[in-house]
Amino acid sequence: MFNIIIFGPPGSGKGTQSSRIAEKFNIKHISTGDILRSEVKQETELGKKAKAIMEKGELVPDNLLIKILQSAITKKADVAGYIFDGFPRTIVQAEALDDLMKSINDSIDVVVSLDVPDNEVVDRLLKRAEIEGRKDDNRETIQNRLKVYKEQTAPLLAYYLKQNKLEGINGVGSVDKIFDEIVPCLEKYMN
Ligand code: AP5
Repeated sequence: MFNIIIFGPPGSGKGTQSSRIAEKFNIKHISTGDILRSEVKQETELGKKAKAIMEKGELVPDNLLIKILQSAITKKADVAGYIFDGFPRTIVQAEALDDLMKSINDSIDVVVSLDVPDNEVVDRLLKRAEIEGRKDDNRETIQNRLKVYKEQTAPLLAYYLKQNKLEGINGVGSVDKIFDEIVPCLEKYMN
């Protein structure tokens, strides 16, 4: 299997690029943000717990995310691999993901990190707010999402750098140009 993590601050283009990568490499896109938003919409127990946390731009507790991942991975049918978008976001989640992959005799092959400055992500997310009206796309929550990213998620870069799996990509420019830079980086890690 070919297993990828896509990493980067809120609004860096993780979801946009993941869809294209999933299609190109015929792998499954797992977005924990999308899974959580769907749970909120369906008003499930998990959704009820996650709603207020997401609206503040904080992280949903690790144990809930690990359960989501477990069920997404163990449901695996005929998949050639995964692209994880929005997970892991803490060291605890990264270690749990390593364990989960091990349990299916697999591992993460590569981590793509999209590098986008704060002013650009704020502009992108405020623009999206006008079109989609996502509850967490307002100036105050965006600032908190960035803070949470820097404090709790960015330290994971060192975790994957140590494992020689990290590929940094300039995430500013057209979606096509960024995708064209990502593809050859990923191909180096294909088994
Ligand atoms: P999540 O949904 O993962 O949100 P996020 O990380 O804040 O990222 P976004 O979805 O906003 O942005 P993106 O990087 O995917 O960029 P996108 O392609 O959409 O998580 C939401 C919340 O759920 C979290 O805050 C947390 O509460 C909870 N959560 C999720 N996972 C969790 C976990 N593992 N642990 C704990 N809690 C968790 O693009 C953004 C916009 O920019 C779009 O409008 C797009 O069209 C545009 N765009 C994309 N690329 C470009 C480009 N190159 N140039 C210009 N515009 C662009």
